[in-house]
Amino acid sequence: MTPIYLDHSATTPTDPRVVQAMLPYFTEIYGNASSAHCYGRNAEHAIETAREIIASVLKCQPKEIIFTSGGSESDNLAVRGAAWYARQKGKGTHLITTPIEHGAIGKTIEQLANLQGFERTILPVDRFGRVSVQDFQAACRPGTTLASIMYANNEVGTIQPISELAAIAHEHGALFHTDAVQAAGQLSLDVNQLGVDLLSISGHKFYGPKGVGALYIRDGVDITPAQTGGSHERGLRAGTQNTPLIVGLAEALRLAYEELETRTTHYRRLRDQLIGGVLATIPNARLSGHGSQRLPAHASFVFENIYSGTLVSLLDEQDIAASAASACKTGNPEPSSVLLALGYDRDTAACSLRLTVGTQTKASDIDYTVKTLAAAIKTLIRKPEGQAVVA
Ligand SMILES: Cc1ncc(COP(=O)(O)O)c(C=O)c1O
Repeated sequence: MTPIYLDHSATTPTDPRVVQAMLPYFTEIYGNASSAHCYGRNAEHAIETAREIIASVLKCQPKEIIFTSGGSESDNLAVRGAAWYARQKGKGTHLITTPIEHGAIGKTIEQLANLQGFERTILPVDRFGRVSVQDFQAACRPGTTLASIMYANNEVGTIQPISELAAIAHEHGALFHTDAVQAAGQLSLDVNQLGVDLLSISGHKFYGPKGVGALYIRDGVDITPAQTGGSHERGLRAGTQNTPLIVGLAEALRLAYEELETRTTHYRRLRDQLIGGVLATIPNARLSGHGSQRLPAHASFVFENIYSGTLVSLLDEQDIAASAASACKTGNPEPSSVLLALGYDRDTAACSLRLTVGTQTKASDIDYTVKTLAAAIKTLIRKPEGQAVVA
């Protein structure tokens, strides 16, 4: 049997249609887009077409899209670039974020604070992973230059009230960045409805290739480049553009939004089947994250007293590819910092499981997963303390 893949938040397979679109750009249209001959012009044309396609999904202008090597780089560039530029202009050094951001935001802001003297406010989140609009309002102050709050969380799937938060940031003269890496392919990316100034996406989360992403930068917003060199990407991201990957990114995004309705209906049906099945059959299961404000393809749980690492290995043996929301080594379970921020105690925060469905997932896969998970948990509960079960 082909193992059942339920880890689409980690990455997705590249859609064969996307691979087909990319292929000519490896071997035929291989010019450097900066070159002044026909090979270069053909590559440049492909890149500019890709920029237009992405802009049409984000409802922005093509020049507002910068290509990067993925979500991490887009996040780094947004935060460093906006923070540095604002400080250089004497606008202030205060940054606002949350404790549940991906490391590409969290660690970047930590570094700006520790090495370069930026001030930061890390807003709390509630039990379901939501930021309070009132807390955000209270945290904005003179000298606040940037807030970075993710659109949807990777571990618990919770969606934030981005447009409300962005409007408040603007009332205080601050820029608003959102990490939309998990949201892309599942939620609207209309930057005007969202009201954001900067937004990050990554190809491999919506059936595109790995190692390519984009950053939306609203026209009129200035940032300082974080990677210097050539004047590619309007001087904001040095490095020869990767034409095949950029073409793949655009084709994957185009397909994701052309098929959004069908895909998200399919995701929701399977996700609800999964959540319903798990909560009905496994007595110590709890849903983590928000009940309704969550990504269509995302289910996440905590199973009291069952370490994530043990459970993921057991499921792997049963041909189910799942993910612990935390980095968890057998015998030394590290609690998930996201679950800690949601208020779970350390033991429970080491007992998480994330199951994320995709376009190829079938209802029978979910039936098998619920049955197998229930049996695995029964076995683990019966095992003597110290082997698999936490006291
Ligand atoms: C919310 C979020 N932001 C950023 C990233 C980093 O994206 P990439 O893997 O493209 O660097 C991820 C990847 O898991 C993510 O989930």
